[in-house]
Amino acid sequence: MTLIASTHERIKRLGIDRWVAVCALACLAQPALAADIAAGKTKAAQICQTCHGMDGRGTQAMVANIGGEQKQYLVKQLNAYRAGEREHAQMTIIARMLSDEDVDNLSAWYASIVASFEIPQ
Ligand code: HEC
Repeated sequence: MTLIASTHERIKRLGIDRWVAVCALACLAQPALAADIAAGKTKAAQICQTCHGMDGRGTQAMVANIGGEQKQYLVKQLNAYRAGEREHAQMTIIARMLSDEDVDNLSAWYASIVASFEIPQ
C-alpha cells in the first residue's frame, strides 16, 4: 500500500492523467496474470492440434469444438479433467500433463479464435 500510495503521490505531482495512472498501477500489480497467447499457440501445435486442430474444430466426431469458446469455460474444463471431476480416457491424461500456466495460455489461444455460426433457413 505504501508503494502504491507514494507512487500515486508522485503521479499526482507529475500531473499525469488519472486514468493513465490507474492503468499503469493495474499493470504493475498483476504482470504474472496475463495469459501468453503465443505460448498457447505453440503448445496447441505440439499437443492439441491432432484432435482439436489449430482452429479448435474437432478433427473427429467425438472431439469437442473448442475454437472461439469462452476462456473461462475452457480453463474450467481443463482443470476439471486435471482434478478428476470430469473424466475422459484421453483428455484426463493430456490435461494432467499441463501446468496452470499451460491451461491459462492454451485457453487464451483457443478463446482468441474468431468462430462464426450460421443458422439454417
Ligand atoms: C487424442 C485426442 C485429443 C487431444 C490430443 C486433445 N484433446 Fe481435448 N478433447 C478430446 C476429446 C475426445 C474431447 C471430448 C471429451 C469428453 O467427452 O469429455 C476433448 C475435450 C476437450 C475439452 C472440453 C471441451 C468442452 O466443450 O467441454 C477441452 C477444453 C479440451 N479438450 C482441450 C484440449 C487441449 C487444450 C488440448 C491440448 C493440450 C487437447 N484438448 C488435446 C480429444 C483430444
